[in-house]
Amino acid sequence: MERTCLAIILAAGESTRMKSAMSKVLHPVAGRPMISHVVEALASASISDVALVVGRDAEAVSAAASTGSVTVTSFLQKERLGTGHAVLAAREAIARGYDDVLVVFGDTPLITAAPLKEARDGLAAGNDVVVIGFQTPDPTGYGRLIVEDGTLVAIREHKDATEEERRITYCNGGLMAIDGRRALDLLDRIGNANAKGEYYLTDLVEIVRSLGGRAIAVEAPEEELTGCNTRAELAYIERLWQQRRRHEMMLAGVSMIAPETVFLSWDTELAQDVLVEPHVVFGPGVRVESGAIIHAFSHVEGAHVGAGATVGPFARLRPGADLGPKSKVGNFCEVKKAEIGAGAKVNHLTYIGDAFVGAGSNIGAGTITCNYDGVNKHLTRIGANAFVGSNSSLVAPVTIGDGALVASGSVITHDVPADAVAFGRARQEIKPGRAPVLRERYEAEKTAKKKVKAAD
Ligand code: UD1
Ligand code: CA
Repeated sequence: MERTCLAIILAAGESTRMKSAMSKVLHPVAGRPMISHVVEALASASISDVALVVGRDAEAVSAAASTGSVTVTSFLQKERLGTGHAVLAAREAIARGYDDVLVVFGDTPLITAAPLKEARDGLAAGNDVVVIGFQTPDPTGYGRLIVEDGTLVAIREHKDATEEERRITYCNGGLMAIDGRRALDLLDRIGNANAKGEYYLTDLVEIVRSLGGRAIAVEAPEEELTGCNTRAELAYIERLWQQRRRHEMMLAGVSMIAPETVFLSWDTELAQDVLVEPHVVFGPGVRVESGAIIHAFSHVEGAHVGAGATVGPFARLRPGADLGPKSKVGNFCEVKKAEIGAGAKVNHLTYIGDAFVGAGSNIGAGTITCNYDGVNKHLTRIGANAFVGSNSSLVAPVTIGDGALVASGSVITHDVPADAVAFGRARQEIKPGRAPVLRERYEAEKTAKKKVKAAD
């Protein structure tokens, strides 16, 4: 029979070292709260019973943890007395009786399903406590794993460790699997006689051994267990996350010329044969289809880019931008809440917001959809195969019909029927031979001014 499992996520800490008005587990990694990444990892390990221990910012943390298919039940840790005390906040859940109890930390967002599974395998193999450890050249701050003859004999917190113990580079990743049938009994035995005066979950190792049980440590890649206590570590975690996802994407057929300069969000979807040039930032909610090119220095968020479309360089796609196949949004253009039809071109210095641009239309340089009257937003509809001359203002609400032509420099305030030509500007006036006359006048004025100055 398959073993049952309860995961307990600890997320009640004060986050003192983050120096923030918000709990650290709410700080985003790849554009989503750290805690959501942890829940996602549990889901991918097919763990569906999750207890979340919250303290600071309890409501926001619970909300951020409720993602996807996992049912998360929150438990409040009223006082922050340490990780051992925190686990017991979920006493009620543990008491339901599980084969495996898996403790994970809300501040370890790079965790994946693999070490979670390994920890559980360790229990299935007959161990009472399984700790996931990692090797690091810089173990400062982490609990050290003291291993003798293949068994884990103790975890020593940095503050409590001797000089010699501090030289150990094998560290506690914070992920611990406990025999679910013994968990409550073991947890209730944790005391707080240590440097911090806290109830350390890590004491479980010595406790279980003193009762004749067995604890082991299993090594996992350092990257997955990197914890976040400070803003500097947050930036480091972001970097590791980005590296990992770029690599996955490149292996899946996405080209990146300078991957280290491309920033992805947790949900960025780039199809095969997408090319991303250097210095591109993807905010949340982006899907780019096959063969599209995102040129350098573009910022793309909440947007869909159709197959073979091109974006940038220096383009900004904001939420609701929907680019049809083979369409083009060029340099210094901004598109928001707008559909750009198949093959349509918005090439230079243009703002298209709250609009529909039909297939095959060409929007000239400097065109602006004036979508906002200071109070309300209005729609601009441009039909198929229309041509909007450069530097035109389309004052919404307004419709430009299929095949219509708008003269450059127009201010369009009324609908333009299909196939019509609209001149939305004053006609040009010609005065033959007038230029030399004007030039002479200007010269005379200039000389007069100089004379006045000399006389001063
Ligand atoms: C902890 C481990 C350490 C390990 C490291 C890995 C203990 C005693 N120490 O240290 O061995 O190397 O993680 O990253 O377990 N929390 C609560 N309630 C509390 C205290 C903490 O919910 O009363 C939560 C925090 O929100 C956090 C997690 O538990 O998500 C870990 O707490 P933290 O204070 O960051 O522990 P570390 O000092 O990093
Ligand atoms: Ca930590």
